[in-house]
Amino acid sequence: MKAVSIDKDVCTGCGICITICPYKAIELVDNKAEFQLEECFSCGHCQAVCSVGAVMVSGLASDIKFSTFNELEGVVQPGTGGVAEIAALMRSRRSCRRYRTQPVPLPLLEDLVKIGTTAPSGTNSQPWNFSILPEREDVLVLGGLTAEYYRNLNRQARNGILRLLVKLFGGDSLGRYYRRYHDSVEDSLREWDREGKDRLFHGAVAAILVTARQDASCPAEDALLATQNILLAAHVMGLGSCLIGFTVEAMRRNPEMKRKMEIGEGEEIYSVIALGYPDVIYHRVANRKSVVPRILKFGAEDAEKTE
Ligand SMILES: Cc1cc2nc3c(=O)[nH]c(=O)nc-3n(C[C@H](O)[C@H](O)[C@H](O)COP(=O)(O)O)c2cc1C
Repeated sequence: MKAVSIDKDVCTGCGICITICPYKAIELVDNKAEFQLEECFSCGHCQAVCSVGAVMVSGLASDIKFSTFNELEGVVQPGTGGVAEIAALMRSRRSCRRYRTQPVPLPLLEDLVKIGTTAPSGTNSQPWNFSILPEREDVLVLGGLTAEYYRNLNRQARNGILRLLVKLFGGDSLGRYYRRYHDSVEDSLREWDREGKDRLFHGAVAAILVTARQDASCPAEDALLATQNILLAAHVMGLGSCLIGFTVEAMRRNPEMKRKMEIGEGEEIYSVIALGYPDVIYHRVANRKSVVPRILKFGAEDAEKTE
């Protein structure tokens, strides 16, 4: 079956699908649009742009169905939708490090994953996969594995001869880790062991892991764009979230952790998102370092040369 089918009886021959197709897969034949290939990357722009509904892309979920909220009908057209709200949402999302013990319903977590999949991806490959840890005890399993990894790493990093050998043969990564993180990680491990204090997941009651297939063109970018979607949506769902880079690092270096989290061969982990209902209220939005963008104006002469 072809990736795109076009109903000739419905097609008006306006050609808009031809102009929009990044794959150059459609042509006008006898004044009707015709899909010329077997496959494309199924971005669905042809289907979305057809005003009479003549185009159908196969192999995609026809509609993402959310179960915890009613989706708005139709497309938010450019220039509508409220930039003030979007900017305020982005400035209001913070990394949450205090959670209530109230569990997060699984359907909410599943909806967050669906929202993640609306992100753009290189050549529309959608190489992501998601694992949901729905309860606190599941998060604790991942936390325990992470603690074990850092316990080992700290043991190695304390060994001066090993640090020297690593430096001689493979750069100063162990030394850098020792200087920058060893002491604070040791403190966290001690608190974890003695008091059950969770400085890693901050008491989060759920987590989503975002992985991506390595054979994709841009797996890191794709997974992180999906991640940002999830962080923003979690905020408006009333959830706090925090990326846990320490666990990502541990999982990347310890195949056993990836296996335990059922991450397939050929997949890499890109984010671990701690989630839960926040036990903190912020009264002010995030400020950032100011940035002065470079304004690149080359003028008509340069533009002509490159044409
Ligand atoms: C890649 C990445 C890894 C992170 N890892 C951790 C982490 O392991 N633990 C943590 O508490 N916060 C972690 N954070 C959160 C950052 O500290 C936080 O985003 C930053 O301080 C800005 O604060 P905000 O998110 O509240 O605006 C991570 C953030 C990113 C982007």
